[in-house]
Amino acid sequence: MQKLYIKGGKSLKGTVRISGAKNAALAIISASLLAQETVCLDNIPDITDVNVLLDIVANLGVEVVRKGPDSVEITTPDRISTITPYREVKKLRASNLLLGPLLARFCNAEIALPGGCNIGSRPMDLHIKGFEALGAALSLEHGFIKGCCSRLTGSKIYLDFPSVGATENIMMAAVLSKGQTVLENVAKEPEIVDLANFLNSLGAKIRGAGTDVIKIDGVDQLGGGRYSVIPDRIEAGTFMVAAAATHGNVTIENIISTHVEPLIAKLREANVEVLEEDEIIRVIAREELRPIDIKTLPYPGFPTDMQSQVMAMLTVVKGTSVIVENVFENRLQVADEFKRMGAKIKVEGRTAVIQGVQRLQGAQVKASDLRAGAALIVAGLIADGDTEICNTFYIDRGYEKIEQKLISIGADISRI
Ligand code: EPZ
Repeated sequence: MQKLYIKGGKSLKGTVRISGAKNAALAIISASLLAQETVCLDNIPDITDVNVLLDIVANLGVEVVRKGPDSVEITTPDRISTITPYREVKKLRASNLLLGPLLARFCNAEIALPGGCNIGSRPMDLHIKGFEALGAALSLEHGFIKGCCSRLTGSKIYLDFPSVGATENIMMAAVLSKGQTVLENVAKEPEIVDLANFLNSLGAKIRGAGTDVIKIDGVDQLGGGRYSVIPDRIEAGTFMVAAAATHGNVTIENIISTHVEPLIAKLREANVEVLEEDEIIRVIAREELRPIDIKTLPYPGFPTDMQSQVMAMLTVVKGTSVIVENVFENRLQVADEFKRMGAKIKVEGRTAVIQGVQRLQGAQVKASDLRAGAALIVAGLIADGDTEICNTFYIDRGYEKIEQKLISIGADISRI
């Protein structure tokens, strides 16, 4: 069981380069199964979630060839297995994104139900509603979602909630459907736009990604091509918050600043200086930070994936800050770990009220999910003394070379 050790109190200074976006890469790797020819993907991060998904599709019979540190070639023959076993799916919820491509191209899919996780129950009702609207028959049997269909046919679908995964899964299923699909009340995250751009580069006909309505004109097949995944806005945001929390001066390279606008606005409100130019963002926090209120919402609202990291920063900001988590029903639990470090946080339902304290104290803490783990790193960086974080496997799911990147900007962190 690996652990991260952090000696707190150092201000972060220097430049860090962001990797490709985990949540874009997972959707785009799944979508690659729709292509009749070879797809080459660049800017793919070397993180556990991506490597597990590549193993899962390889076990289906898809040809996966690594081409260099962040490139991979994917070739999907006309016949592959369409059954993903539970032992693999339990390692990666996002394998549910294989449903859309497998139904669209192979008219069959059996995906073990990914089950809940620490941040919420993670239902799939909206995914299923979309696939059934396109003509698939789905059933839940012995912990598997089983789907089969003849060729899917376009339909008009309204999502009760702008679910990222459901938008992606139904969009992937619709690209090979007969006729037009109109998807309403969809997610507008940058990863949705990246997936649509990728699919269109293979010959799909998708319009409106990034808005509330996506229109997809079905085509008979998709060709191959080469595509580079967008940078990871949540990794970037994590470093931005760490820079602010440690009163540092950090330049973030390889980030599309419009993708982190919601966070930039909140950091400026907290009295942090944020400079934007092209694909570079500079975070400078000389002054005392101010308390702020956060409400997480679907994009372009404040991202739920940045909520725990900002909570870490706010634990030592004088005054009262309030965080409301509107997206997942159980994503405030990292507060318990912060309280073990001396934070003053009161959690009631989906609301956390944070009273700033002078300093956190280093402690032995454990990550309960990916972003809680990242938040504990931020807390360790600002705490007095040493912090030991266990369950680092959660962090490695979504952050490439996290300690190397932090050491390069002055953090005293090591992995044992
Ligand atoms: C994606 O998860 C991301 N994961 C999550 O990132 C991210 O937190 C989330 O979107 C929200 O932005 C990937 O892209 C792999 P949702 P997803 O469907 O698709 C409810 C990280 O740390 N819902 O938008 O699962 C659901 O219960 C991860 O990188 C339904 O009710 O998120 C939740 O309350 C964590 N029915 C809300 O929607 C459904 O059928 C948001 O879920 C689907 C979702």
